[in-house]
Parts: sequence; C-alpha cells; structure tokens
Amino acid sequence: MFPERRLRRLRKRTLQPLFKETRLAVSDLVMPLFFDETIEEAVPIGSMPGQYRYPLADAGAVAERLQRSGLSAVLVFGIPREKDAVATSAYDDDGVVQKAVAGIKQACPDLVVITDVCACEYTDHGHCGIVGETCGGGMDLLNDPSLALMQKIAVSHARAGADIVAPSCMLDGMVGAIRTALDGSGFAEVPIMSYSTKFASAYYGPFREAADSGFSFGDRTTYQMDPANAREALLESEEDAAEGADILMVKPAGLYLDVLAEIREIGLPVAAYQVSGEYAQLKAASALGWLDERKCALEALTCIKRAGADLIITYYAEDAARWLHEER
Ligand code: PBG
Ligand code: ZN
Repeated sequence: MFPERRLRRLRKRTLQPLFKETRLAVSDLVMPLFFDETIEEAVPIGSMPGQYRYPLADAGAVAERLQRSGLSAVLVFGIPREKDAVATSAYDDDGVVQKAVAGIKQACPDLVVITDVCACEYTDHGHCGIVGETCGGGMDLLNDPSLALMQKIAVSHARAGADIVAPSCMLDGMVGAIRTALDGSGFAEVPIMSYSTKFASAYYGPFREAADSGFSFGDRTTYQMDPANAREALLESEEDAAEGADILMVKPAGLYLDVLAEIREIGLPVAAYQVSGEYAQLKAASALGWLDERKCALEALTCIKRAGADLIITYYAEDAARWLHEER
C-alpha cells in the first residue's frame, strides 16, 4: 500500500515558505529590563549572560537601543534602595520603577512600557505582598491585606506613565482590585496584563538573583500554582478574565504549551513568559557548544507562538529582533 498523501511534496525547499503556518515577528516580543537604583553602571547578571541590571541614568539610552532594534515593548522590574515588611518603596512616586518608566517614556514616548506589579523586590522577607499569621497558624502571604498594596503600586505605575500594568503576585481578586483602583484614579484606559496562570516554578531561579527577590522563609507554593495542575490553570485565567483582565499570561512558557493552547480559547490576548531559567539553560548549553543558541532560541520562541501566544516576554527579545532582521 503506497500512501496516497505524500506530505513531503510540500516540503520541497522552494515550497517551504508558502506553507509556513507560524512566523515569529519582532512585534510579538517583549523585553524584560531590570533597573537598580543603587548602582551607577550596568552590572551583568551572572546566571543570565547578556542581561544586566541597569542604573536609572541608563533608562533612556537602553530604551533607544531597543527601539532601534525594532522592539515595541518592554517589561520593567525595579531593585529599590530600601526594603521593608510592607513594600513601601514599591508605591513611592519617586521609586525605582516610577523613575525608570519616566526616563524611558521621555526618551521613547512610543515604546510600550509594561510594569511588573508585585512586592517581592520591595519586601525584606521577599514574599509578593503582606505576610502575617494565618488562621491555621504559621506565617504566609495574606491575600486581602495585600490587595490594597497592589492597588497602590499599580496606580503609582500608571501615574508614572506605564502603558500597561502587569500584576504578578497571584493573589485572589488582584485583577478586580487593581481595575477598581485604576478606574477610580483616572486610569480607566490603562490595560491590565495579568500573570493569570503563573506556576511555582524552579525556573525562576536566575530571576531571583537578577531582581534580588528571593524569599527568606517558606516558598511561593501557597500562591503560585502547582506545575502538575492543568484544570486549575484554566480556572486561574478564567477568573482573571472575569475580573476584567485585558491580557492573560502563562508563565513559564516552554514547559506549559498545553496550558497556553487551552487558555487561548478563553478569547482574550495571551502572553507567554519565557522565564529566566529557560533562557539560562539555553545560554549554558550553547556556551558549552552543546546547542546552537540562535537556532534553539528561535525554535523555542516560534513554538511558543504556535501554541497560541500573541505576545512573548523573553530575555532573547533583543537578539531575536536582530536574528529575524538578518533572516529577511
Ligand atoms: C515577581 C516575578 C517573578 C518573575 C516575574 N515576576 C519571580 C517570582 O515570582 O518568583 C519571574 C521571571 C523570570 O524568572 O524570568 N513575582
Ligand atoms: Zn512577586
């Protein structure tokens, strides 16, 4: 029996471009950036070769460089001078993220600036909000007391000029609370990109060095999701959609493509975050000569798009912008 359908017919070299189903574009990519208000010069991040913590004075120049590379959006994280138990520096109008946003927007008004709304870089205990004694006993992240904090952080980012705010704390009700606060402060048109389905992943390891956001006790498994749970993953994003999220997110990306494909069906735009550990493993293997970095990174990003991502947040954004430009 000879196959009637020869799928190889359309794989002739000349025919290949006509039948490519998914094309990665520079406009799909969002570059994460770390600003540290305690430094004067860019400091390389050891576990993320090619990535830096930038001083605030570099905000404009970094933004211009990224815009020249063709990128249209960045995701801003801050490393503050002061941390305390209740993340006071996170909603300071003169805080590190607020100043970085202002610096970026001044240099590049059209570059879309998304801010990470969370407390873990700003708390001395390193958890994503207010911690305290729970009903069952023991210290943990307190849900409802932390919502007011997220409202203050989001409004202060919007006031600084953020185009989109992105809460990443995985609190119940965070999207609704932030929507109410933004609307009540004159920012009804600022969209919320929710880290709606965020797993408690060991692949965030390098980020915690980059952002100095490791926790001093416990872990994040009482608020971030169990990597084993797919139905709950869908519930998390459905909940945020119902609370008014404009964009949903799955994080990490590469190991969670089944979840991403399912969440796309909700109908809202979906972002996928290729996290620090996904970047670090490609960097390490290619530094050893074991993988072809460019081919592997473009394959990973293309597959994330194929699975359903409208946006991909990736530390490879700047490199990929260059590679895609060279390929044209
Ligand atoms: C803050 C936050 C984290 C990441 C993005 N926002 C760390 C965490 O939740 O522990 C991870 C990003 C990465 O690993 O690249 N909540
Ligand atoms: Zn956090």
